[in-house]
Amino acid sequence: MIERLIEISHACDLSIPVEHRLPIAHVGAGAIVANAHAPAYRKAGLDVRGVYDVDAERAAALAKAWALPRTYASLDELLADDAVRIVDIGVPPMAQSEIIERAFAAGKDVLAQKPLSLTSGEAARLVALADACGRKLVVNHQMRYDEGVAATGEMLRRGWIGDAEAAEMSIDISINWRSWFAESSQLLIWYHAIHELDAIRSWFGTPESVWCTGTSSVVAKGERRIMCGLVYPGRLRVSLHVSTENQTGDTSGRFRVDGSAGAIRGELRRFYKPPLEGPDVLEVHSRTLPTDGWLPYPCTSRWFVDAFIGPMRSLLAWIATGVEPPTSARDNVDTIRLVEALYRSIEFGTVQTLT
Ligand SMILES: NC(=O)c1ccc[n+]([C@@H]2O[C@H](COP(=O)([O-])OP(=O)(O)OC[C@H]3O[C@@H](n4cnc5c(N)ncnc54)[C@H](O)[C@@H]3O)[C@@H](O)[C@H]2O)c1
Repeated sequence: MIERLIEISHACDLSIPVEHRLPIAHVGAGAIVANAHAPAYRKAGLDVRGVYDVDAERAAALAKAWALPRTYASLDELLADDAVRIVDIGVPPMAQSEIIERAFAAGKDVLAQKPLSLTSGEAARLVALADACGRKLVVNHQMRYDEGVAATGEMLRRGWIGDAEAAEMSIDISINWRSWFAESSQLLIWYHAIHELDAIRSWFGTPESVWCTGTSSVVAKGERRIMCGLVYPGRLRVSLHVSTENQTGDTSGRFRVDGSAGAIRGELRRFYKPPLEGPDVLEVHSRTLPTDGWLPYPCTSRWFVDAFIGPMRSLLAWIATGVEPPTSARDNVDTIRLVEALYRSIEFGTVQTLT
């Protein structure tokens, strides 16, 4: 049985071959770059040449914290650095398109942050632009590379639980929605639940129709809790509950997938507080392997910071091998269409069909 688990573990590998590594520069030195991109790329052994942020103090602080060789005084200065091959973006989505366009014009490939854009039309335009320029564009949807999520996907693809028939995911966390996030009238789905939705798409593809309701326990511009249902062709139905308003400290993230020949259940330990925070917990109950009851799969890596290696790894592999990765912007357009459908459902109170 251990060989079967090793095959899943190999498929979830996050190591980056030395020959794939190319020099990177960050655009944006805010929370996510400081807390996740920088430590992840350090852990992966990647070569980060410098950082540019409109806030020069933030750029300087990031460069100091991670001993980066330099800061750039402008985006033009960064793009003129011939040593830099990859532009790694961590800015609000409203500022992202222009940076992507200019990076392509300078001959750089791009890892964009999520959401790639706040409309699927703009996301599709960026994909078409990348194709026209011969450039590569990947989106930082690291949840697909979180080990519990990635291993579940591999088990599903190998038919370990037969055909998936029902899945549920419940994320109950606390987020202090600060600064520009709090100003957004559409909040939780664009800036958090898009991860869960993208991960669910990585397991099952895009649903046929969806419904969603969103609310908040505080007077806020945007939704901070959602419940939604995703309807797939055939028997498969998926429910997703995400709240960022946990007030009792017992935060959690759980999922379960039931299939025609077994089930997979997991805890996304990124969402737990110490001492429970850690690598995900995953178990599979399979009649096709078969297992003797619930078999634990031993996750060894974490969302922070390991999973953040995944999207950059996939971009570098795309450049090296020509194989387009699952988190390419082309695939991501459908995640954004799904988000748009859920917001339409919240607005109109009706089931939305995805075409
Ligand atoms: N993948 C994830 O898990 C994850 C988690 C958190 C945030 N994010 C995404 O990352 C992005 C940034 O979030 P954050 O929390 O770091 O925000 P933040 O506000 O902490 O940082 C954003 C940074 O971008 C800089 N900036 C803004 N416009 C710029 C421009 N035109 N050129 C250069 N720098 C610019 C700001 O000065 C700031 O330092 C958001 O789109 C968010 O959705 C992703």
